Amino acid sequence: MARKKIALIGSGMIGGTLAHVAAREELGDVVLFDIAEGLPQGKALDLAESTPVYNSSVSLKGANAYEDIAGADVCIVTAGVPRKPGMSRDDLLGINLKVMKAVGEGIKAHAPNAFVICITNPLDAMVWALQQFSGLPANKVVGMAGVLDSSRFAYFLSEKTGVSVADIHAWTLAGHGDSMVPMVRHSTVGGLPLPQLVKQGWMTQEELDAIVDRTRKGGGEIVALLKTGSAYYAPAESAIAMAKSYLKDQKRVLPAAAFCQGEYGVDGLYVGVPTLIGAEGAEKIVEFDFNDAEQEMFNTSVEAVGGLVDACKDIDSSLK
Ligand code: APR
Repeated sequence: MARKKIALIGSGMIGGTLAHVAAREELGDVVLFDIAEGLPQGKALDLAESTPVYNSSVSLKGANAYEDIAGADVCIVTAGVPRKPGMSRDDLLGINLKVMKAVGEGIKAHAPNAFVICITNPLDAMVWALQQFSGLPANKVVGMAGVLDSSRFAYFLSEKTGVSVADIHAWTLAGHGDSMVPMVRHSTVGGLPLPQLVKQGWMTQEELDAIVDRTRKGGGEIVALLKTGSAYYAPAESAIAMAKSYLKDQKRVLPAAAFCQGEYGVDGLYVGVPTLIGAEGAEKIVEFDFNDAEQEMFNTSVEAVGGLVDACKDIDSSLK
């Protein structure tokens, strides 16, 4: 069987980390694509020169032309610009929407059979636009945010309880923003739902609330520490978990921005939901039972996503 091909559209901090992990895990040959000349070539060469050290039989190539992503099995999209001081959310939306148009057309022309994972922010709106611009089936285009947000949630729970991250299942659903919904009743530590942990004295309700709040603000916490740039290790690992589930048909259920068609009462939008990812892409959405408070938080977050999608439609009339 020929090696798999992984195209990384955007070769910045997350793109470079994706290439590193993909090469180390021998997931397939890697193409780093970027509009910046030299950047993807330099990162690809540096990483290629590391493969003999750990005996990884994959090739890495840098590219500035979409022709080089031809036939990719997986495309992971980080192309775009981050929000800079003085830039409004709408400014960012407009800029990255144009980037999604170029990327979507490039994928459509050269890698129409790929499984596409979008990471570019604002995530839920950008993955929606990318699916529209690429014309790929909705089950082959997903967004990465929930695995990252849930991993942050799990880490904070592990830090607090002293329980291994391996025995924590944390879920963060809905949109990737301040209104994301860490699922307290559905997340477990050593099999115990979080409200039980509070009952049993592992932590107080206030401590649990603080962890939920820290999870929601997890991206900002890293930005404040780094001062220049945003998180890249955890986002890259999160997207790799999704890519692996597709490439190896693992059928893992991961929180992903998936296209909802009635699930959770959402129709025609991408939002973070538990998604079974296998060889067919996003194969199934798992529906948690929500109580009224959870449904309300979820709906609020979905409304925020809907607002961003409407703003995209206002900017680009080709979007429906
Ligand atoms: N086509 C291809 N690459 C592009 C394009 C484009 N039209 N526009 C910008 N890029 C490239 C930039 O040249 C840069 O190398 O995208 C890369 C983005 O890399 P970084 O700025 O380092 O951003 P990174 O930290 O990797 O995050 C990427 O993921 O989490 C989100 O908010 C984050 O939207 C951001 C994205």
